[in-house]
Amino acid sequence: MAINRNNLTILVVVVLLGAGASWYLKTPAKETVASAIAVPKLNDVQQAGNVLFDKNCATCHGVSGGGTKQGPPLIHKYYEPSHHGDDAFIWAAKQGVRAHHWNFGDMPPINSVSDGDVQKIIQFIRAVQRENGIS
Ligand code: HEC
Repeated sequence: MAINRNNLTILVVVVLLGAGASWYLKTPAKETVASAIAVPKLNDVQQAGNVLFDKNCATCHGVSGGGTKQGPPLIHKYYEPSHHGDDAFIWAAKQGVRAHHWNFGDMPPINSVSDGDVQKIIQFIRAVQRENGIS
């Protein structure tokens, strides 16, 4: 097959798709074990959210949302506001989450937090996300 512009374009597209797919498929667990998370100065609501997060979420999502072996980091581009809006947090706490992005298994419903608590947790997580360039 002669290399002309058409099949060169196809080749480039195939290579890019392949690179994208392997990046997507290779994002799992081992990459997630906590990297350093920068925490900004917190206002009172964010501070309350931090306390609630430590108590109810950090066993799996790690201190400041950096991730653990039980759960993914929330300070991650998957969870930026345009991909997982605030509703996703309320829903996750109420209904739990079926494993779909990672290999940690399902997240159970977290009955120990109210919607109001989760709103504070969201304020905290969004502040930390912004501080780490995720917005
Ligand atoms: C027992 C472990 C565990 C606890 C505790 C936990 N989570 Fe999760 N959470 C997970 C796992 C695992 C996932 C990833 C599921 C997937 O996408 O594969 C997840 C995913 C999420 C997501 C993404 C939801 C989506 O739509 O993809 C949000 C938001 C979230 N958790 C918030 C929280 C909050 C807030 C708390 C505390 C109130 C919490 N989690 C406590 C394990 C946990």
